[in-house]
Amino acid sequence: MEGEVRILGFAGSLRKASFNKAVLQAVRQLVPTGTVLETFDLDGIPLYNQDIEPVLPPKVKEFKAKIRAADAILIVTPEYNYSIPGVLKNAIDWGSRPYGDSAWNGKPVAIMGASPGFLGTARAQYQLRQMFDYLNMYPVNGPEVLISRAAEKFDEFGNLKDEPTRSLIKELLNELVRWTQELQKMKKN
Ligand code: FNR
Repeated sequence: MEGEVRILGFAGSLRKASFNKAVLQAVRQLVPTGTVLETFDLDGIPLYNQDIEPVLPPKVKEFKAKIRAADAILIVTPEYNYSIPGVLKNAIDWGSRPYGDSAWNGKPVAIMGASPGFLGTARAQYQLRQMFDYLNMYPVNGPEVLISRAAEKFDEFGNLKDEPTRSLIKELLNELVRWTQELQKMKKN
């Protein structure tokens, strides 16, 4: 029997009615048995400034500790101007600092994203994959969860009602857990 897998999930949007935050909420019901999802709100992480790096701001310290305690990471992000939102990039940068003390190192990671547009954050997701390369993270390659025309996929209470999207999310979560357990076995050997 495999051990419990702890996933840290966060959304790249701060707004209350965010589609991406709503996807993260849906993930709570869709994680496989034996998996714990903890979520983190990026609101309150200050703008990165190398001058203040020697004493990490409390919210950054908390974020890094949670990344370190997690077995796997889940990022649910909007796309802004064909890229990732500044709040997400800022949080990723903080998590990687100070140099030589990145909390991301060696973490398995999965990405999802929702957009009212037609490409469902595809371009932003590719930019994240490029960052994972430098950060030495291990992304799950598929299935890609690109939630397009997001407005049609939630009910008026913000619940994800679209069944094909729910099963795709389930599939990606299963794959993230499988991949995390494979990597854990490799580290032990
Ligand atoms: C957007 N939006 C957007 N959508 C998209 O599919 N591709 C894009 O490049 C952009 N660019 C963009 C830039 C900026 C500055 C904003 C504010 C918005 C629209 C975006 O997908 C939409 O606002 C989503 O609802 C944002 O995600 P949340 O907050 O609902 O999670």
